[in-house]
Amino acid sequence: MESIWVTETGIRKREPLPGDLETEAVVIGAGMAGILTAYHLQQAGLRTVVLEADRIGSGQTKNTTAKITFQHRLIYNRLIQTLGSRAAFAYASANENAIDAYEKLIREKEIDCDFVRCSSYLYSRKDAAPLRREVDAVMGIGIDAVFETDSELPFPVAGVARFDRQARFNPLKFLAAISEEVTVYEQTEVLKVEGNRVQTNKGCVSARHIVFACHYPFINMPGYYFARMHQERSYVAALEGAGRIEGMYLGIDKDGLSFRQQGDMLLLGGGSHRTGRNQKGGQYAWLQDRARELYPESRVIRQWSAQDCMTLDGIPYIGRFSIRRPNWYVATGFGKWGMSSSMAAAHILTALITEQRSAQAGVFSPQRGLTGRAVKELGIHSLYTIKGLVKHLLPAGQGRIVPNCPHMGCRLEWNPEEGTYDCPCHGSRFDESGKLIDGPAQNNCRRR
Ligand code: FES
Repeated sequence: MESIWVTETGIRKREPLPGDLETEAVVIGAGMAGILTAYHLQQAGLRTVVLEADRIGSGQTKNTTAKITFQHRLIYNRLIQTLGSRAAFAYASANENAIDAYEKLIREKEIDCDFVRCSSYLYSRKDAAPLRREVDAVMGIGIDAVFETDSELPFPVAGVARFDRQARFNPLKFLAAISEEVTVYEQTEVLKVEGNRVQTNKGCVSARHIVFACHYPFINMPGYYFARMHQERSYVAALEGAGRIEGMYLGIDKDGLSFRQQGDMLLLGGGSHRTGRNQKGGQYAWLQDRARELYPESRVIRQWSAQDCMTLDGIPYIGRFSIRRPNWYVATGFGKWGMSSSMAAAHILTALITEQRSAQAGVFSPQRGLTGRAVKELGIHSLYTIKGLVKHLLPAGQGRIVPNCPHMGCRLEWNPEEGTYDCPCHGSRFDESGKLIDGPAQNNCRRR
């Protein structure tokens, strides 16, 4: 089922690339990160075009819960412990600036996109200690946060960590307006990128600067993003008749839920798992059970799923794609925080490309070193990949397609919930007929 944003919003169709062209910057991907980066590059005086394989906002932007916040689970205490206070402050500032930048753009351009400033909360039903630690960590780097023991949630909590002046909006209404200011070629699929040339199915674009803002980079080498990112799926239900919640909430306990108001609807989210690890299904049913339990009077009127790229250390990769490709840039690995990260990426990449100073670029650099947590995650990620590759040697059953991933060959797992074949290695997805839904794979599955 499509998200509520898709049903509420129409984005004007654009023509495909008309043939070969030369420009100063080309952005691959017309989601929030791609469009905002192109917009900022253009504002900085660079001739910029965006290439999109499908339609503007047709990727993960349409599936977000569209919280714009610098409260990213319990990240600050961890960042301070592993990278220090300066890095934690840089991370917070990049995301806080992002919220302000959305507000400024929306006010200046009078974009009608339901933008509302509100508080964001982390909650726990069991243990207040991590929340207290997070509040102390944030206060320690000079940012306001409050620990409380009360909330507007329909159950008692052990505590909440409150961050004020966060925001929510309708992402596709915003994207529809802001994308009018950039040149986008839709239905233009990138086939390969070499040096300064982006080869598509409609022609070749030559550009001094190339930005990969296509969710998960599809080029394996250089960059090796496949070795340092996996994908996760999560689920959202839009409820009618659930009453109002003013703040945005996220549970830190196992099976914690996300809550966020949109007009008369309450968006309830949860059920996160690694892509390719939903062989039994039941995620939507689980969410519906939670909705019935918490809001017996409510009705689920829409439900959908999202897919997010997760980095080894929980920090996005925003910056140069690889030291071996100085004119390529990347914005990926936003975790569950795509909206603030998209704006932060637009700011950082524009600064790098126009050779301005960015106090925040270092913490997001894709070339940063590995923390202890990153090394542990790398081990887990590698085990999934080895398992997927070994499984591909086993007999593949009798289906219509060969269930081996065209990306690097891992055995695909059937996802009964969504009727898709999902890859547990790096998260590519395919429909029942083997047609590609999500990358990094670029091709359909082989048919028998
Ligand atoms: Fe990489 Fe499937 S997505 S092997």
